[in-house]
Amino acid sequence: MGFISDQYRDSSRLNARFRLHRDFSTSQRPFPRWVFDQFDFNAATSILDIGCGPGYLWAENRERVHHEWEIVLVDRSFGMLAEAHKNLQGWGLKVRWLNSDARALPLDERVFDVVVANHMLYHVEDRPGVLGEIGRVMKPEGRLYAATNGREHLREIRELIERFQLDSSIWAHHNAFSLENGEAQLRGSFERVSCVRFDDSLEVTDIEPIMDYIQSGFSSEELAANAKGLQDIQVFIGRQLNEEGVIRIRKETGMFIAEKPHPT
Ligand SMILES: C[S@@+](CC[C@H](N)C(=O)[O-])C[C@H]1O[C@@H](n2cnc3c(N)ncnc32)[C@H](O)[C@@H]1O
Repeated sequence: MGFISDQYRDSSRLNARFRLHRDFSTSQRPFPRWVFDQFDFNAATSILDIGCGPGYLWAENRERVHHEWEIVLVDRSFGMLAEAHKNLQGWGLKVRWLNSDARALPLDERVFDVVVANHMLYHVEDRPGVLGEIGRVMKPEGRLYAATNGREHLREIRELIERFQLDSSIWAHHNAFSLENGEAQLRGSFERVSCVRFDDSLEVTDIEPIMDYIQSGFSSEELAANAKGLQDIQVFIGRQLNEEGVIRIRKETGMFIAEKPHPT
């Protein structure tokens, strides 16, 4: 099984990361609420959410989701889609579920007003191909919303992993499509590309959520191979918490908004 498939077989690893952000972020505005604040949809909007995961974006904005919207949720992981289904069922929404890879969407062209691709484009190897697919299924002047991270995101956690020489593959992905290089990549297929940043950081007062977060980035085999380093990190964090009472961690997150060019 590939690294990304293993990571996202179900939501357990993603949930560990979600919990750290939910419980220790300094921003009063939770990230999924902020993402929704950026949307500019009218009543008849058709929406495609690619790499939807467990559907947190929709579940966390439940009362803001318009019942007239037509929403298609896509994920390559069947386990994620099943959880999204569980999280959103019974609301009377117009939702369709699609277990598909973003590289070849079994969808007609020019159907969607909006495509959302949050925190997933950095996982995709053939990004130009996926961005081409997104453009194909979008209506002319349709809009893409793509949240991602910046270089400094969770720097202190990355430094711990380097310092204790842990061997985890997940960190290798994030720079592939970041707040620094995403705009240049989007300009190939989209116009009017803009970037909005979310101002936030973490102040963590407990060891366990940080350890859960770090461990969520490892496959089962990697966990066993890095057991000693993980133990050392735990001792190090424990000492830091005893001395300072809090661990401060930088966050750098935001979103690109881009439009599909109108055909001339
Ligand atoms: C970090 S999660 C983000 C989930 C959600 N968009 C969010 O922001 O909470 C990345 C998701 O993208 C999915 N994914 C990764 N590569 C994909 C691909 N090529 N096609 C479809 N889904 C993909 C994963 O299965 C996973 O559910």
